[in-house]
Amino acid sequence: MSSDIITTQENNQSQDLIIQPPSSGLSLQGKITVPGDKSISHRSLMLGAIAKGETTIEGLLLGEDPRSTAKCFRAMGAEISELNTERVVVQGIGLGNLQEPRDVLDAGNSGTTLRLMIGLLASHPDRFFTVTGDNSLRSRPMSRVVKPLQKMGATIWGRENNNLAPLAVKGQKLKPFHYHSPIASAQVKSCILLAGLMTEGKTTVTEPALSRDHSERMLQAFGAELEIDAATNSVTITGQPELTGQHVIVPGDISSAAFWLVAGAIVPGSELVITNVGVNPTRIGILEALEMMNADITKENERIVAGEPVADLRVKHSKLRACTIAGSIIPRLIDEIPVLAVAAAFAEGTTIIKDAAELRVKESDRLSAMATELTKMGAKVTELSDGLEITGGNALTGQEVDSYTDHRIAMSLAIAALATSGITTIHRAEAASISYPNFVATLQQVV
Ligand code: S3P
Repeated sequence: MSSDIITTQENNQSQDLIIQPPSSGLSLQGKITVPGDKSISHRSLMLGAIAKGETTIEGLLLGEDPRSTAKCFRAMGAEISELNTERVVVQGIGLGNLQEPRDVLDAGNSGTTLRLMIGLLASHPDRFFTVTGDNSLRSRPMSRVVKPLQKMGATIWGRENNNLAPLAVKGQKLKPFHYHSPIASAQVKSCILLAGLMTEGKTTVTEPALSRDHSERMLQAFGAELEIDAATNSVTITGQPELTGQHVIVPGDISSAAFWLVAGAIVPGSELVITNVGVNPTRIGILEALEMMNADITKENERIVAGEPVADLRVKHSKLRACTIAGSIIPRLIDEIPVLAVAAAFAEGTTIIKDAAELRVKESDRLSAMATELTKMGAKVTELSDGLEITGGNALTGQEVDSYTDHRIAMSLAIAALATSGITTIHRAEAASISYPNFVATLQQVV
């Protein structure tokens, strides 16, 4: 039965995902385990590589993005075992010991790989590095990390006034710096903190709103000295600490759980339990937004695993209502806005999403992508310069839509299709494997 509802088909070297709910509608049931957190997976590989001794990682995300990180750090001398979810072993080479790679470092589709890594490269004196990525990454802004690194004394070249990859980096002994970032970005914050690791003295980053704090937690666990001032959203790192390999347990990714939270909320008669989800306070904006929308979500079995809060999440269908999502909640749900737009299309009233211009420079322009594709399906969406205005209640119908090769767009559209009449075909749906390799299999399991 379920295999008729969710099918895939090769199409011109990419994959179509075809979703055809029965005319009686679907109800989603089951227990789901989502893959490991993408942000924590990257950081565990990177810190493992630069620490002294052995790091073991349990629950690593096997998506394309962490694979890019592993490949880059292997090319710079770290020994990283074959990637699997049970136990990855990283033999760290010690702080300051990244070797000059003989080839270009390729971050693939991963902004986190490139932006975090460049903080380390820029602070390795006398070594030369070149870094690039895929089509999408080569059009994303890098001056947000290049400029503050230059203020610390870094030497970096790139296209369009050093803004676009490929980038060339000549490592230098950097100077400590207090960076007031104009954007709340964990990638920017983490890049500067990683550069600060190698820099004598204290390096501080202040951000306008708190972004995810996985770097801070993991750096402290590996032995770095950090001062955190919550009142001003500032973090200070003291340079040249002794970093020691750790055992990292990666929780399930709340950004992947978000697809099932919205699916369970919008598809009548559904009840899903998503186990082992990371519920770090800097990531749970999605839970707060769905709660404002009257979603029925309960946190069960809350616990702390290796320094990160974890819970099981139970979602039941409910009648959603519109809300406004803006301001300091935005960095805490930045990756969940595409799927929140889907929830809004099924909510009563007009949902307003503002202060989210950052979405225009993600793996795709996510505001434009969601406005265009949801409109094709019959939703009432107005694109704002920094957000979306979505009036729910229009019944959606299946259409041919596109992922823009963006994993979160592919999966968000698949969730919309579950509560839609007719057939939805999502082109280039293989993009989901960037952060969620088993997405289609799980979809087949719950329908
Ligand atoms: C990430 C930070 C966020 C997020 C990305 C992962 C991280 O990006 O969108 O998927 O792991 O630090 P920004 O820092 O650019 O907001």
